[in-house]
Amino acid sequence: MNHKIIRKKFKDFFEARGHKWVTSSSLLPDDPSVLFTTAGMQQFKPYYTGQADPIKDFGLLNTTSIQKSMRTSDIDEVGDESHLTFFEMLGNFSFGGYWKKEAIKWGHEFITKELGLKIDYVSVFEGLPSAGIPADDESEEIWKSIDPGISVKKANIHDNFWGPTGNEGPCGPTTEIYVNSALRQAQGKPPVEVWNIVFNEFFYPGSREELLSGKSDKKLTKLKTLGIDTGMGLERLAMVAQKKKNIFETDLFEPIMNSLPNHFDLRTKRIIADHSRTIVFLAGEGILPSNKDRGYIMRRLMRRIMALNIPKDIIDAVIDTYADQYPELMVKRNEILGVYSDELTKFNKTLRGGLNELKRLEKVDAPQAFKLYESFGLPYELIKDFAKDKAKGLNREAFDEEFRKHQEKSRAGAEKKFGGHGLLLDTGELKAGNEEELKKATRLHTATHLLHASLRKILGNEVKQAGSDITSERLRFDFNFPRKLTPEEIKNVEDLTNEAVGKDYKVTKKEMAYEDAIKSGALAFFKLKYPAKVNVYTVGPEDSFFSRELCGGPHVSHTAEVGKIKISKEEAVSAGVRRIRAIVD
Ligand code: SER
Repeated sequence: MNHKIIRKKFKDFFEARGHKWVTSSSLLPDDPSVLFTTAGMQQFKPYYTGQADPIKDFGLLNTTSIQKSMRTSDIDEVGDESHLTFFEMLGNFSFGGYWKKEAIKWGHEFITKELGLKIDYVSVFEGLPSAGIPADDESEEIWKSIDPGISVKKANIHDNFWGPTGNEGPCGPTTEIYVNSALRQAQGKPPVEVWNIVFNEFFYPGSREELLSGKSDKKLTKLKTLGIDTGMGLERLAMVAQKKKNIFETDLFEPIMNSLPNHFDLRTKRIIADHSRTIVFLAGEGILPSNKDRGYIMRRLMRRIMALNIPKDIIDAVIDTYADQYPELMVKRNEILGVYSDELTKFNKTLRGGLNELKRLEKVDAPQAFKLYESFGLPYELIKDFAKDKAKGLNREAFDEEFRKHQEKSRAGAEKKFGGHGLLLDTGELKAGNEEELKKATRLHTATHLLHASLRKILGNEVKQAGSDITSERLRFDFNFPRKLTPEEIKNVEDLTNEAVGKDYKVTKKEMAYEDAIKSGALAFFKLKYPAKVNVYTVGPEDSFFSRELCGGPHVSHTAEVGKIKISKEEAVSAGVRRIRAIVD
């Protein structure tokens, strides 16, 4: 029973029972408090709380979907038999349409009749009297009425109570279905949880942690309408339906695993297979590797497998596996391959040498780790990851301390160097040979910040700085963005930048702890590592600034000093990276 048949059976089964099929929502949810979509219920959250009307949107009270999902909390466990960063979740949902009897009956019917599997046991919630939540005897009775011989285990609030997700939300007891295949059983492997059926009957005005702590005064209230939310991981289901020992032997992974050379050990192959799937789906959603948030996760996954010298056809193998279910991956094949090869070029240019050096070392302590960072740009995480036992004694604090020591040294060195010879200023980003050039380059530097902020305001926050180079003649600004800008967009960006000049905003500098800087909304860009204390430049009022960035300066003190800005060119640097050149009057 291949995965396509499982998908079809599931969809047909619930459509025939009054559910509206809803396509998977994006892996990038609207909710800004979470980075990725982690469950099928996420796109339906407002229907449980009554904020949205299912009849209006779906014509029915029940929906069903196969949702792309991502969970990164177990990223370090990937490589064993069951952990994944990306997976798909089959689910049926109801917002006041049906309740426990139907949900359990259909769960049983789908597993035993449609898929012909044997249920080993089910679990039900044992209750938590101290929080006023009774045991779920009703579910136990329903299971027994369907199958008198079934084994029912009781489970506590940690295992059999879902939610709330985020700061508040619907929640309730669950019942879970455990299945094993004969093959796994013969190997002495325990049954796996394949299906989680959630009965959303409460609303909790706090987080799950507060609820579980038992110390909060917040009280559960009954939801107006009872809701069903079920989730069944496709990979695990395929494993038991296809009678495989683990998920990596299913047809969802086999073509990907088979495209890998045999010299990799099994664990490494699984890591590559997992990470490459996630990379393809994220790139398919327009995520580019960067040093922030989602982009950072993307970069980490990419670097992890790039360091292993994997064949590039792995990306094609993933796209081919999912071509029927996610045709957008086919359409975007070249874009996805482009994102991959761009990052690979960067990786090879900067990090490859560092990894070779790392191999040669017998032990990696903080000074050596810092040297690898300084000479090859090898980030701390990758060093830890690859040096394994060699870097046992290495920790973040010692590494940061090396960083700080180095900064002090180079500051002292820079003062000496600019004592009259060579360039007057060379920050890496900004170069000037004499006082006059420095003045012009400083104006262009502030112009770069205004331009960056305007690009994000006009094109959206996916715009991320990828590079900047300033001389006394012009600024050059590279940023991540998937396509060419229209003439209208270029004009809007230019106008908005000049508007900020016209307002003569004050430019202020403040030294802050890195964490506080990020919290205050400052943009940090492509450097891999910042010191604990950073400089933050703000353009405009403190509480409604036009731009705020981590930056070493120098800048003008008021934006009117910048002068009129003119964008002279907009072009591609590589797939997904655009370049703007601009001058000031
Ligand atoms: N929300 C539950 C889960 O993710 C059921 O879909 O397990």
